[in-house]
Amino acid sequence: MFVEVTADILEMNPFTAIGKDGFLITAGSPDNFNIMTASWGSLGVLWGRNIVTLYVKASRHTHKFLEESEGFTCSFLEPELKDTLLWCGQHSGRDNDKVAATGLIPEFIPAQTGAERVTFKQASLVLSCTKASVMQVDASQFVLTELKNRHKDGDFHSVYIGFIDKVLAKQ
Ligand SMILES: Cc1cc2nc3c(=O)[nH]c(=O)nc-3n(C[C@H](O)[C@H](O)[C@H](O)COP(=O)(O)O)c2cc1C
Repeated sequence: MFVEVTADILEMNPFTAIGKDGFLITAGSPDNFNIMTASWGSLGVLWGRNIVTLYVKASRHTHKFLEESEGFTCSFLEPELKDTLLWCGQHSGRDNDKVAATGLIPEFIPAQTGAERVTFKQASLVLSCTKASVMQVDASQFVLTELKNRHKDGDFHSVYIGFIDKVLAKQ
């Protein structure tokens, strides 16, 4: 059971919550969605709105779902579900049923558009987001040589900026 809270009361440290712990990105509809683990991302303010930014490689199955969805969720899990988080980051939804494999229990969040976004009963905190902007990274944008060297395979990230419509906390 989730309760809606305001972003103002969040005490999470984005550097640990995103970079160290990681979270699940879920995009798609209740009957056709995909989940992946992310530890790149940012929280902040743009266009006067609270936003989350995702960095997702084009090769991820989730990329297709993000491209086609009006929104997405970011689900943060309790530390004891670290194995679940890792599993979703080491397997692709192209050839695995991640819900069946992990035991994650889907929950649906209504969006203003009439769509329903997907999160999981086990989440401790959920950001339900409208996809506001998509940008494509390419090699010409890197200033530092070390970044050019890191992306020689051409599998560049898409940058998704989502307006945070709802912050939901486990009751
Ligand atoms: C801890 C962790 C963090 C990850 N962070 C990201 C990320 O921020 N962006 C990304 O594109 N892939 C990231 N990945 C890789 C994807 O989660 C992984 O390729 C996953 O299998 C993709 O699943 P999918 O093909 O079903 O979308 C991460 C993996 C792990 C284990």
